[in-house]
Amino acid sequence: MATETRENWGSRVGFILAAIGSAVGLGNIWRFPGVAYENGGGAFLVPYLVALTTAGIPLLIMEFTIGRRYRGSAPVAYRRMNRNAEVIGWWQVAISMIIAVYYAAIIAWAGWYGFYSISQQWGADPNAFLMGDFLQASDGFGDFGTWLPGIGLAMVVVWGFTLLVIGAGIKKGIETTSKIFIPLLLVMFAVMVVQALTLDGAVEGLNAFFTPDWEAVREPGVWLAAYGQIFFSLSVGFGIMVTYASYLKRKSDITTSAFTVGFANSSFEILAGIGVFAALGFIAFESGVPIADQAYAGVGLAFVAFPTIINTLPYMAGLFGVLFFASLVVAGWTSMVSIVQVPVAAMEDRFGWGRKKATLILGGFMTVVSVALLPTASGLMFLDVTDYFINQYGIAVAAPVSIAVVVWVMWRWKALRDDANATSTIKIGPIWFVCLGVITPVALAGILFFNICDLVTADADSSLYTYNQYQAFGWSLALGALAFGVIMALVLRRREVPEIESEEDVEIREEATR
Ligand code: ALA
Repeated sequence: MATETRENWGSRVGFILAAIGSAVGLGNIWRFPGVAYENGGGAFLVPYLVALTTAGIPLLIMEFTIGRRYRGSAPVAYRRMNRNAEVIGWWQVAISMIIAVYYAAIIAWAGWYGFYSISQQWGADPNAFLMGDFLQASDGFGDFGTWLPGIGLAMVVVWGFTLLVIGAGIKKGIETTSKIFIPLLLVMFAVMVVQALTLDGAVEGLNAFFTPDWEAVREPGVWLAAYGQIFFSLSVGFGIMVTYASYLKRKSDITTSAFTVGFANSSFEILAGIGVFAALGFIAFESGVPIADQAYAGVGLAFVAFPTIINTLPYMAGLFGVLFFASLVVAGWTSMVSIVQVPVAAMEDRFGWGRKKATLILGGFMTVVSVALLPTASGLMFLDVTDYFINQYGIAVAAPVSIAVVVWVMWRWKALRDDANATSTIKIGPIWFVCLGVITPVALAGILFFNICDLVTADADSSLYTYNQYQAFGWSLALGALAFGVIMALVLRRREVPEIESEEDVEIREEATR
């Protein structure tokens, strides 16, 4: 059986920046403030931090170690652990493909909104503009026929740039763009948040963000939202970090990188929360409507609250808007690259396709689906329902299942721990095992159970009502991703994967490229 050689990251900083580029995305700026707002504001921070420390970072360490040790995209890495585990890899590939389809739309909206900021083209009522003129949003799934050329065109551009970076390869494409755009993102976003903090009412906004509401903490839905948010935001549970780590050199530090990426991501997320809630405080100050009563839909928060603020900003309103929406575009784009890299790398590794062929065929297919479905009158509804189901019942299920299989069924945690510790400054031990192998799967099993009960019984007063109405679609997506995993693994059962290079091979090759 032939062995394969694999591209590597050029440097450790390059890998960390690319991993941060993947983690810091729409999840941080667009999704987090909306999810926090819907799940009790300040209350959300408690489950969020619990999920980060007990599940997010331990899983990130596991995925980094799996990727580096088994040197393959998700299906190949899991297959190298055990023939039957390949299902998990393909399941994660399917989840990534579904996310990429709607992710591109939000980046495209942000692109337009950056442009609109200059002249505040949304007028006096940003909500009416978003739902009416811009998205022409209809209430249900009945209107995929009304296609919106402006958004469609912007999405083609987003897909084009994404595929260009992936086609250029790990070092030349992904690493180089991350090195340029991540520092730029940080500067743009920091300036925007500082400007938000100078607004009247900002302190009230921050109080709402940081004051825990212990009632909300008792709801399983809030906890599930926190775990779902952490996994989505850290890019774990759907194949990304396994894939990125598969391009690491054998001797790279694992745990320090994981802590750096994890904390950088959450710092950015909390910074985004501060910026958005400070801005909500300003709206409350201006309008007299308290933050809790401002009815912003989760997904619309960034696209309604920010234009509202920009309309009333005393100075440099255009700049504020451009900085905010450009941050969304840059953060989203670097994450989009990592999401699409998951299926592309899977096709390269598993079917022996060249990078360009995999990027063109798979990327082309996903572009067509994405550009056909999202820029339509039903696009927003489709996006909202898909985002909910693929996170709560896609990622938040695939993540604990991958953990349970690796830790308990295959009993690989010791080998992974030793592998990570052998090259890392920060050593992991029993706490990692308890968080990863015990707390996370047990907590998620309980939370998922209670949340499904809430979902299926939700009435018109419940925040889950919309999702209750679209269960047939939502469950088909979530279970369809799993079914795709099972089918791919069955089809490929007899097709062996190339052997991993021996330690010596890797060393000799790395020496030669040093
Ligand atoms: N981790 C990426 C995000 O936060 C997917 O948007």
